[in-house]
Amino acid sequence: MPFSQDFLDELARRNDIVDVVSGYVALTKRSGANQFGLCPFHGEKTPSFSVNADKQIYHCFGCGKGGSVINFIMEIENLSFPDAVQFLARRAGMEVPQDGYDADRGRRSRMLELNRDAARYFHSQLIAPSGAPAQDYVRRRGIVSMVKPFGLGYAPDGWQGLTDAMTAKGYTRQELIDAGLARVGKKGGLYDYFRDRLMFPVIDVRGSVIGFSGRILSDGEPKYLNSPDTSVYSKSRSLFALNLAKKSKNGYILLAEGNIDVVSLHQAGFDSAVASLGTSLTADQARLIARYTDQVIIAYDADAAGQKAAQRAIGILQPLDLKIKVLKIPGAKDPDEFIQEKGPQAFRELIERSGNQIEYRLEETAAQFDLSTDEGRLGYLRAAARLIASLPGSVEREIYGVRAAEKVGVSRDAFLTEVARIRRQNAAAARKKETRDATAPLQAAQPKDRSLRFTNVRSAVAEEGVLALMCQYPEQFGDLPLTADDFTSPALGKLYEALAGQIGRNRSVSLAALSQQFSPEEMTLLTGICQRSELPAHAAEQAMKDYINKIQAEKDKAARGRDMRAYAEKLKQRKGYGHKDGS
Ligand code: GTP
Ligand code: MN
Repeated sequence: MPFSQDFLDELARRNDIVDVVSGYVALTKRSGANQFGLCPFHGEKTPSFSVNADKQIYHCFGCGKGGSVINFIMEIENLSFPDAVQFLARRAGMEVPQDGYDADRGRRSRMLELNRDAARYFHSQLIAPSGAPAQDYVRRRGIVSMVKPFGLGYAPDGWQGLTDAMTAKGYTRQELIDAGLARVGKKGGLYDYFRDRLMFPVIDVRGSVIGFSGRILSDGEPKYLNSPDTSVYSKSRSLFALNLAKKSKNGYILLAEGNIDVVSLHQAGFDSAVASLGTSLTADQARLIARYTDQVIIAYDADAAGQKAAQRAIGILQPLDLKIKVLKIPGAKDPDEFIQEKGPQAFRELIERSGNQIEYRLEETAAQFDLSTDEGRLGYLRAAARLIASLPGSVEREIYGVRAAEKVGVSRDAFLTEVARIRRQNAAAARKKETRDATAPLQAAQPKDRSLRFTNVRSAVAEEGVLALMCQYPEQFGDLPLTADDFTSPALGKLYEALAGQIGRNRSVSLAALSQQFSPEEMTLLTGICQRSELPAHAAEQAMKDYINKIQAEKDKAARGRDMRAYAEKLKQRKGYGHKDGS
C-alpha cells in the first residue's frame, strides 16, 4: 500500500473538507454539521451537495457522488489518487513521504517515458524513407505542415517494429502490455497493437504523451484505434490537442469530432480545436474545457449523427455555465472537408455567423415541423416554449420568445404565457423530485456498478445500517460479532472490514485513509450510507442489535434454502440411481 494510514489521516486533518470544498463551491445553507451548496458535478438550481464537517465527507443527494476530501480533489481536479494526495500535501505545506509516493510515481513516470519513446519511434518511422505510405497519406490529406507540431507518426505494417525497438531500449514485456502498446499473441509472443496506421500522440496539458490514436491508412476497419485506458490515460478525461489549444489566444475552444478535423483546423489557424477520442463528450471532458475557456464552439460533422452528438454535447456543457455556439457546416461533411475545399476564411465566416445554442436549437426544432400547417405551427410552438422555458434568464426568454412567436405569427403575450405555465410546471416537478430523492432509501437506487449490487435487499438494508452506525458512533461499535462473510454484498462486507479495522486501531473513522483502498464508486456508496439521517445515541445500541439479528436471520434463511435445495438434489439423485438399479 503506497501511503501509510497515519500520513493520510494527517493529510485529511490538515485539509479540512469544508475549507477545501469552499474553494470550489459556495456553501450557502447549513443544517447541523452539514453545509449545502450547488453540486459542481451535475447541473442543479437548488443545493443538494452536502459537506459534513464532523465526518469530513461530501455527498450529493442529487447525483449521488461522494467521498473524502481526497476523492473530492480527484474528481474536481481530474487527478489520480497519488496526484490528489500530492495536491493536498502541497496545499497544507506537508512533505509527502518518499517511499509511498515513489513506487507509484516511478511506475507512472516510466510509462510516460515509454509513451514518449514510442511517439519518437513512430515519428521517426514517418519521416524515414520507409514511411512513404504515411507521407503520401499526410500529403493527400493536406496536413504536412502539422506533422511536426502534432508529433504525428507512422506505425509500420509489421508485427514487432515498436515492440523490438522498445525492448532494445530496456522496456519490459509487461511495461509494453501495461501501456497498451503491445498484446500477447497466441504463441505467447508480443505483437504491436498499432500497425500500418497514422499515429496521433495524445498529449496532456502538462506535455506528457499519455496515449495514442491511430488512423488506418487504407479503407480497413476499425478506422481509428485508440489506446486502452491505462494508469496514465483515461479516454473519458482527455481531449486530443488540448495541450496546444490551451495556449491559444482565441478565447474559445473549438470542439470537433475527428482527429483529422482538429489537425486541419490548427493548420488553418484555428489553434484552439480539440476533440474527444473515440467517445462522445463526457462531463469530465466538459469540466476540463471549462478550466481553459468560457466559450465553446461545437463543430461536429454535418450528418445526422454529428448533429445528434452536438445536442448531447450542449446538454453536457450547459450546466458548466459556458457560452455555447454550434456551427452548421454547409456543403461539406466535416470541418476538415470544408476547410480543404473552401479555405480558412470561409470557416472564419462560419464562426462569425454562427448562432448561439438557443438559436441553433430553435432552428433545429423548426426543421422538425411543417410550419405551413396549423398542426405543424402548434407543434413547433409547444416545443419552442419548452425550450425557452428552460432558459434561466428572463431577458433571454423574452428575446427568443418573441422571435419564436413571430416566426409562426402568434401574439407575444400568448406565447410568453405558455412559457410561464411550463416554468411553473417544471418547478413543481423539480421540487417533487428533490423530496423523492432525499427520502428514497439508498438501496432502492442500486449502484450501476454490478459488483456493488446487493442480492438480498432485506439484509442489505441492515448491513447498511450497521455501517452507518459505525461511522456515527465508532467508539461504541469497535468489535461487533460480524465478519465480512456475514454481508450479502461483497462491497459492503469489504467496507465493513475496513471500518472495523480502523476503529480497532484508533477508535475513530477517517474516510480519507479509506479512499486509498476503495474505488470512487465504493467511496460514494460508503459516504451515501454515512450521510443518511442519524440515530440519536440512546437508540443506537438497540438499532445495532436489531440490524445484527436481521443479518443473522437472513443468513439462516439463506442457509436453510441451500440445505433444502441440496436435500432435494440428493433425493433426486437417489431416485435416479434406484431406477437404474431396478431396470
Ligand atoms: P476522416 O476524415 O475520415 O479521416 O476521419 P475523421 O478524423 O474525420 O473521423 P470521423 O469523423 O470518421 O470520426 C470521428 C472520431 O470518431 C474519430 O476521430 C475517432 O475518435 C472516432 N472514431 C471514428 N471511427 C472510429 C473507430 O472505428 N473506432 C473508434 N474507437 N473510434 C472511431
Ligand atoms: Mn473527416
